[in-house]
Order: sequence, then structure tokens, then C-alpha cells
Amino acid sequence: MTGHSDPARFEPVLTRDVHLQDSHTLRTYVKGGGYASLNKILKGGGPDDVTQEIKASNLRGRGGAGFPTGKKWEFVPKDSPKPKYLICNADESEPGTFKDRLIMNKAPHRMLEGMIIASYAIDCHKAFIYIRGEFYKEYKILEGAVGEAYEANLLGENISGSDYHLDVVIHRGAGAYICGEETGLLESLEGKRGWPRIRPPFPAVAGYLACPTVVQNVETLACLPDIIDRGSGWFKSIGPEQGPGPKLFCLSGSVNNPGVYEAPMGVPLSELIYDFGGGIDGGKALKAVLPGGVSSAVLTAEGIEGLNMDFESLAARHTILGSAGIIVMDESVNMVNACLNLARFFAQESCGQCTPCREGTVWLVQILTRLFRGNAQRKDIDLILDVTENIGGLSDLSQGSYGKTLCPFGEAVAWPVRSFVEKFQDEFAATF
Ligand SMILES: Cc1cc2nc3c(=O)[nH]c(=O)nc-3n(C[C@H](O)[C@H](O)[C@H](O)COP(=O)(O)O)c2cc1C
Ligand code: SF4
Repeated sequence: MTGHSDPARFEPVLTRDVHLQDSHTLRTYVKGGGYASLNKILKGGGPDDVTQEIKASNLRGRGGAGFPTGKKWEFVPKDSPKPKYLICNADESEPGTFKDRLIMNKAPHRMLEGMIIASYAIDCHKAFIYIRGEFYKEYKILEGAVGEAYEANLLGENISGSDYHLDVVIHRGAGAYICGEETGLLESLEGKRGWPRIRPPFPAVAGYLACPTVVQNVETLACLPDIIDRGSGWFKSIGPEQGPGPKLFCLSGSVNNPGVYEAPMGVPLSELIYDFGGGIDGGKALKAVLPGGVSSAVLTAEGIEGLNMDFESLAARHTILGSAGIIVMDESVNMVNACLNLARFFAQESCGQCTPCREGTVWLVQILTRLFRGNAQRKDIDLILDVTENIGGLSDLSQGSYGKTLCPFGEAVAWPVRSFVEKFQDEFAATF
């Protein structure tokens, strides 16, 4: 589904064609102006101009970390004799997140055009789509789109008559959440177990097969054609200047109309829940919201008052935009159970490399199970805080995060679990 925050000021960009019949086909995409941006850059000033335009747009990654896209491309060493790679991260495994799936289903050529633009900018001639294994339908759609692009000379040798060439390979994952983390993904793509790598070196310097590699989220790439077409100034005018643009928000949980909604970055969360989402299911009261998937710190009903959905506003409330997977909880939700649920997910998905994460997530499940069953003691609350401190290094949320594990998964466990316990203390205490 699509929508917009203010009809007078915002027109959907990423989802503008998704209601058209056969929106996934090359014919429909080209009819709406698709691949004009690719042709524009191929005739334009060269790769550096593309990077500078994207940098000037202030586009920040949509996969979770919000890193500035143009800046990431600048980290790729131009003088490296090694091949450069671009990887589209289509793993989308964060619970409550299903926005990339919409793009792959309904606008695969938008993503593909973004991939070709990014590849051109970093001098890449072989790019990969790393797609979540469970997305079989999306895999087939992408396979069709890539095939169409080869036939139309938008991929392969001498793209659109230029001297630029690019091949795109689709690689299916095998169902591990950690393979969405960019270095776990790289290991997996190399045919190894998806174990995140120690950084530095960062992938832009030594990624796939130790060559310079840029990993970019599906939605991030889908933003690129319109930035090239309409300019960085246009993009920057949508929402907060430091993290602007059209944004897909996934709404799930206790709302009347769950779905994917497109709105300007910085849209009020209340507007997403009550206007786009049609309010709380069954007319119940709102209790809590996870604003950025299960890896984000939970917010109370009071905590979302006046909150805008953008990187800075969420950071100011000690949480994150993350994957923009907004999970809404009503007054009937048992917060101990909800916390146990997400701890179970993390215990299941920990790759096991770091002791605090491997052991700590299992401890959290055991303690939270005791609490949920009414077998716990007051000291168990302190134990939860102690374990989250050991996994994520967070003694005080206001101090920000200083992880103790190899990859940000550790913080992704510590943040939400600790926030549930701190913000719903009474409910946790009422179990013993
Ligand atoms: C545990 C974990 C899982 C992740 N899963 C995804 C994912 O499914 N898709 C994604 O795009 N990024 C995911 N990320 C973020 C990636 O590591 C990386 O930051 C992102 O793909 C970069 O693209 P962007 O700059 O366009 O956001 C994950 C990160 C962590 C720590
Ligand atoms: S933090 Fe967890 S998921 Fe990340 S590398 Fe360590 S054990 Fe694996």
C-alpha cells in the first residue's frame, strides 16, 4: 500500500508505479520514464559526478545503520587494481520489516536501475543481489527483470551504446538473519558460514574476495534513479536536510490497516499509526511501539508524543529508525511476553562467534521465561540488566552504545531488551 503525509506537498516516489498492472515489467517501468537516469549518467560527466550528486543529496542508507551513501562510495579506493563489487542487500529478515519485498515484487527495475547507477559510480563491473532464501517469488521476479535488462542492453557489454559493462548475479541466502549483516553476507556470498568479520578493514576497502565492495540496501538503491533525474536539491527538500527523502514505513501489530506506506522522512509517527494505519485495532489504547524493527529500543505511548520518524528525532529519544519496521502494541499486550518473544528470536539467530552474544541471549530467554511463568525473583531484573550490559555494553541508554561484540547484533539485543525492562518496570515487577 502507499500513501503520503501531506497530499499537497508529497507525491510517492518509490511506490508511485506499484499499483499499475505489470508494474514489475520493463515495458511498464520504461513507459513511466524508467532507465532515463541511467542513460543520463552514461552520457554525462562520469562516475565522480554521480558520486558527488548522491553525496550532495544527503541520502542515508535504508538498511538500518543510516550511513551516508555518497560517503560510502568515496571510501572505495579508486587506484585499487582489484575489481570492485556492488552488492544489493535483499536479505530483509528483521521482524516487522517488509518494505524491500514490496520493491522487489512491484518495482524491481527501479532497484536494478539504482544498482547500475551505483555500480557505474564505483567502477564496478560485476554486481550481486543477495536475496533472502525464503523470497522465492521475489527471486523469480528479479530473475525475470535481470533477463529483460540483458535483452534490452541495459546490462552486459556496451550498455545503451556506451563503453560501460556490468553483469548482475542473483544469489539466494539460506535463511539466516545474520546474513543480512553486511560482513556475514560477504562470508555467505563467498560460500562460507555467515560469520560477521572484524572491522576494519571495512567492506569498501576489503569486502567480497578481499576486493573493494559496496553493500547497499534495496530501498537505498531504489532512491537513486529519482535523485539523478530530479537532482540532489529536490531530494534534500523532502524532510530533514541531514537525512532526507521519500521513505517506506512498515506498519504491523495492533493497527487496523497494516502495510507499507510511503511518506516523507520525518513524518509524525502518530500520523502513520492513526491516519495511514487507521488507528489501534479494536479501539484499544496504545501501549508501546518498536519504531525500527525488533532491534530498536521500545517507546511508550507517552514517549511517541510529538515524535517524527527520522534519524535524528529517533536518536534524540534513545532509539533508532533502523529498518523502519514499526510494530504497534496495544494495552492488551503482555510486555514480559513480548520481550521474551524477541529474546527468543535473537537467541535463535545469534551466529555464536562472540561469547556474550551466544550465551547471553540464551540466558535472557531463560530469565524472561522465569518472569513470564511467575517463577522469578527481584534479582532476576538486575540479572537481565547485567546480561544486556555484557552483550551490548549499555549501562545507560543516554550514553549511547559501545558494543562488546564483533557485530552490531549484540547491541541489537541489548537495546530492546533493556528498554522493555526499564520502561515497563512495574509490569516486570508484578510477575514476582
Ligand atoms: C544483524 C543485522 C542484520 C541486518 N540485516 C539487514 C538486512 O536484512 N538488509 C539490509 O539492507 N541491511 C541489513 N543490515 C545492515 C547491513 O549490515 C548494512 O548496514 C546495510 O546493508 C548497508 O546498506 P545501506 O547503507 O543502504 O543501508 C543488518 C545489520 C545487522 C547488524
Ligand atoms: S554479536 Fe552475535 S551475531 Fe554478531 S558476530 Fe557476535 S555472536 Fe555473531
